[in-house]
This record gives sequence, structure tokens and C-alpha cells, in this order.
Amino acid sequence: MSEISLTVNGKRVSGTAEDRTLLVHFLRENLGLTGTHVGCDTSQCGACVIHVDGKAVKSCTMLAVQASGSSVVTIEGLADGADLHPMQAAFKEHHGLQCGFCTPGMIMTATDMVNRHPEGLDEATVRAELEGNICRCTGYHNIVKAILAASETMSSKGKARQAA
Ligand code: FES
Ligand code: FES
Repeated sequence: MSEISLTVNGKRVSGTAEDRTLLVHFLRENLGLTGTHVGCDTSQCGACVIHVDGKAVKSCTMLAVQASGSSVVTIEGLADGADLHPMQAAFKEHHGLQCGFCTPGMIMTATDMVNRHPEGLDEATVRAELEGNICRCTGYHNIVKAILAASETMSSKGKARQAA
């Protein structure tokens, strides 16, 4: 067993887990953050994507002990207060979810994608970068629409347009 101490959604947390415990299980079972889903456990579906030190990571590919000392954001910590994050708002507005199982991972991947492309995104880039996230409801069309809309709101181009 190891003592694991990290920052999750802005709060310092700690807990004890076996060395083989995956980060996703530590988040869900030790910390009760069940918004991060487990679809495959083998790095294929993207349901478990969170941000570790500002980058999208499949939390089933990382051991909890490896995350010790890191700063983690899960879907529960993405929004600022009561308001939805612009990516969450775009998924809601453009009907980017059906059963919702893939949605937390999609949103965390999409947010990282937009953060890495402050100049904005095009459809081909969104589709290519979503390769690691699977939606079993096959709602990709609206998911892509939602990400493009959020990119427009969050990008430097979109902000400049709103300010004009
Ligand atoms: Fe992590 Fe599927 S549960 S990629
Ligand atoms: Fe059902 Fe994507 S909305 S798995």
C-alpha cells in the first residue's frame, strides 16, 4: 500500500491504495468522484479521460501512485461555480449526448483539444483528435458540432469577434 497525495479539482486530497490501483479507480472508489467513467479499462474507449497537470490523460492508463503530487481535474471540477463550462454548455445546446456514458471523457478530451488550439478548430481536426474517444450511441455528428461551437466561443478568434 502507498500513501497518495494530490490536488483534485483545486483541493489537496490524500488516501492509501495498493500500488496496482489505477488512477480512475482511486478517483471513483477512494474519492467518490464517479463522474469519470470506466468503459474498457484497457485504454481504448476514452470514457475515463481527465486532466493531469493540464493535459488530457486516460486515467485507466495511469497508476494512482504515479499521479501522486500532480494536479488533477475531473469532470466535477471543470465548471466554474454554478455555471457550466463552455464545453458543457455546447454539448447541452447541440445535443452532444444520448446515454451520456462517454460524455465526461468526451468533454475532458474536447476541452484539452480547444486549449491546445487557441486559434480555433476545424471539423477534420476535431474528428482526428476524437479518435481515442468512443461513443457507443454513435452521436458523433452532434458531438463534433458541439466541440466546434465551443471552440468558436473559447478561441481567440471568437473572443475577438465578440469584443468587436
Ligand atoms: Fe480508460 Fe476506456 S476506461 S480508455
Ligand atoms: Fe451514449 Fe456516447 S452518448 S456512449
